[in-house]
Amino acid sequence: MEKEMPPMPESVDVTRDYYDSGDADEFYFRIWGGEDIHVGMYQSEEESIFDASRRTVETMAKHISHIPKGSRVLDVGAGYGGAARFLAREFDFHVTCLNLSTVQNRRNREMNREAGLEDRIEVVDGNFEELPFADESFALIWCQDSILHSSRKKRVFEEINRVMKPGAEFIFTDPMQQPGADPVLLEPVLRRIHLESMGSIEQYRQFADELGWKTVNIEPGPECLVQHYSSVLKNLEGREGSLGGSISPTYIENMKNGLRHWITAGGRGVLDWGILHFQKP
Ligand SMILES: C[S@@+](CC[C@H](N)C(=O)[O-])C[C@H]1O[C@@H](n2cnc3c(N)ncnc32)[C@H](O)[C@@H]1O
Repeated sequence: MEKEMPPMPESVDVTRDYYDSGDADEFYFRIWGGEDIHVGMYQSEEESIFDASRRTVETMAKHISHIPKGSRVLDVGAGYGGAARFLAREFDFHVTCLNLSTVQNRRNREMNREAGLEDRIEVVDGNFEELPFADESFALIWCQDSILHSSRKKRVFEEINRVMKPGAEFIFTDPMQQPGADPVLLEPVLRRIHLESMGSIEQYRQFADELGWKTVNIEPGPECLVQHYSSVLKNLEGREGSLGGSISPTYIENMKNGLRHWITAGGRGVLDWGILHFQKP
């Protein structure tokens, strides 16, 4: 059922090299939480990155709990597979994790083995702009904070639409920009992810309309992004002395600067984040 992958565009190579680097892997695995590497939904400033990030997964899961047990689910840009393990465990779904980063995929497979979930989670190396799956394969597409990396976001939506069964649902989160965002504040944010622009709720809603999808729910939460990046920065600053040189000083400095730009831009209303939920007819 898998099809051969065409050559990847340059921006995809840049993203893969970034996530596959030892520095990024150590940072996301040790500081960002290791299971879930997306924006968390905090109940207090003191809450751990892990707990807040897990709340995002649980909040999204409440919207899709009616999907029958045993359904085939695709997690697009699956990171270390935290959400996939949650979905396989809680709903008995058969989850396919699609991710560009072979380093993250290795850790994902290892954690699935340790959790005894190997039979319910498959991890596939690949690019979400060219999904290596047959048409109409999945009942649910799940995606957290991954589409921002694409310079061909419409293409990602078209691919997702292609592999959705009729009636399938697509639920995702993404860091986005607000309409009319100040380009001066946006520039250093975009530099960190090597892109010219981010998506927006408006743009994603338009893609969904063009594909004939129904909007099930849109839950904006831009404050979550600022809170999360502030928490990651605080953790990094507090723990950098104990990392024992496993992450290079240059990477740490660049990351701290990058996070500060995101916090400033988010605090000034330039950025957005939210949970978006659509259904294919
Ligand atoms: C911020 S992480 C989020 C990971 C995961 N969804 C989570 O919430 O824990 C972004 C993920 O998108 C993946 N990614 C970025 N571009 C991709 C592409 N073109 N194809 C597949 N995966 C991609 C990265 O490898 C990384 O795992």
